[in-house]
Order: sequence, then C-alpha cells, then structure tokens
Amino acid sequence: MLTDELVLLKTSHRDKVREFIVKVCDDQLHTDFGIIELSSLRGKVFGDIVSSHKGKEFTVQCPKMPDHFRHAKRTGAPLMPKDIGMIIAYTGLCKNDTVLDAGTGSGILAMYLGSIAKRVVSYEIREEFVEVARMNIKNAGLDNVELRCGDIVEEIKGLDEKFDVITLDTQNSGVVVSAVKDVLYPGGFLATYSPFFEQTKEIRNAISMARFNDVVTIECMEREISFSERGTRPSTSKVGHTGFITIARA
Ligand SMILES: C[S@@+](CC[C@H](N)C(=O)[O-])C[C@H]1O[C@@H](n2cnc3c(N)ncnc32)[C@H](O)[C@@H]1O
Repeated sequence: MLTDELVLLKTSHRDKVREFIVKVCDDQLHTDFGIIELSSLRGKVFGDIVSSHKGKEFTVQCPKMPDHFRHAKRTGAPLMPKDIGMIIAYTGLCKNDTVLDAGTGSGILAMYLGSIAKRVVSYEIREEFVEVARMNIKNAGLDNVELRCGDIVEEIKGLDEKFDVITLDTQNSGVVVSAVKDVLYPGGFLATYSPFFEQTKEIRNAISMARFNDVVTIECMEREISFSERGTRPSTSKVGHTGFITIARA
C-alpha cells in the first residue's frame, strides 16, 4: 500500500499518453485534466485508479528507469537506453559494484547505473549541470549516487578509493584513461562512450598504452519496427548513429 513513495500517474487523451511522476504527499497536482489530491494516493496499490476533480481517471504505476529517462531534465545529449544497456551487459554491472562515472551531464547514465549498482560516484565539471543532475537523481528516488563537481582529469589522480566499473563520457576521455587503472580493481571494467571515430581512436590508443585486456569497441544499431495499415517495416524516422562504446578490462 502506498504511503510516501514516487508514483507514475498515467492517462490518455486523444490517443496520446499523458503522464506525471509525483510523490505521495499532502500537495495537489494541477493538470490540464483537473486537480488531483496526492493524499488520495495513500492506501492505494499500483494498478489502482485515481480521479481528478473533473473526473479524469489516472492509473497509478510504479515509475521505472525508462520513465525517469523520459521525465529527466536535460542539459545536453544523454546516453540512449540502447547504449546504456550495452554498458551494463558488457561490464556485468551488479548490486555489489561501486562505479566511477564522468561526466555526469544530465545524470541519465549515472541514474541507470545507480538503479543496479551498490554505489555510484559521478563527476561533472559544470556546477549548473551538477544541480540539474542532482534534481533528476532525487526525482528518481536514488540515494546511492554521489555527485561531485570537478574536472575528472585532475580529480581521478587524487582518489583514494577503488571501483569495480568506470564509465567515461567526456570529450577528453582519452586523457583520463592513463589514470584509470590506479582506481580500478584488478579485473574491473572501463567503459567509454565516444560519438566520433577520431575520439574513439584516441581512447583505443590510450587503452593500448595503459595495457588493458579484453578490449572491444562496438556500436549498437537500433531499429524500431513500425506497424501500420500499409505494412510492417523498420521505422524510417528513428535514431541513427549515437556513439561507439569501448570496453576494456584491468
Ligand atoms: C555528453 S555529456 C554526458 C551525458 C551523461 N553520460 C548522461 O547520460 O546524461 C558530457 C558531460 O561531461 C562533462 N565534462 C566534460 N569534460 C569533463 C571533465 N573533464 N570532467 C568532468 N566532466 C566533464 C560536460 O560538461 C558534459 O556535461
């Protein structure tokens, strides 16, 4: 039964889904479809219905990471779920792992990592981006993601703890790689994301110099299939190239 957790309120209007993530509390949610007393959620269970004062019905669901991905405020290009999935699968991220991540950006990758790992420490160089990411992470109900403002190139040299997985998504990830092994447990994984071939080559060179093992660079191609009266085929309007993922093992 709900007491004070985050919930996803979902309805549809003219064949479009409208949704809100809110916390069960004594406030009101004002929508185009009327006001919802959030206290009326207390005692409900996921799957129940609540109504606005205008009688519009909303289904109560448990918000999951794909919902937080859609609702998070963005400060730049976040990693896409397909690429996040590859990082999680190829590093075998699990609940015992501690992760070092940079740059935080909107905190999307850090949030997904935090929903699985024991703890995530994420560095972002721009204070204003840290604040947005902090809000996104709070809204996702995560308390195991620690944000630090700083330049990962410098900060990594002063770290006195070790990590199971390190994820890098900054323009200069190649420069950071040389310091990664000092803070990665033996057998731990490095995962980098780079949109361009040139940047990826720099990362690969740095990985060779630092003598990592089991190095692989991959690109994940995602094709949504569209279904219509005319026929069934790969969608002509979806995401093309995003970036390359390089995985290496200490
Ligand atoms: C593409 S965004 C990261 C997106 C993030 N992975 C996500 O999923 O939301 C790159 C971020 O790295 C930050 N950044 C760039 N250089 C950095 C550095 N040396 N140290 C820390 N953060 C850095 C940028 O300010 C930017 O916010």
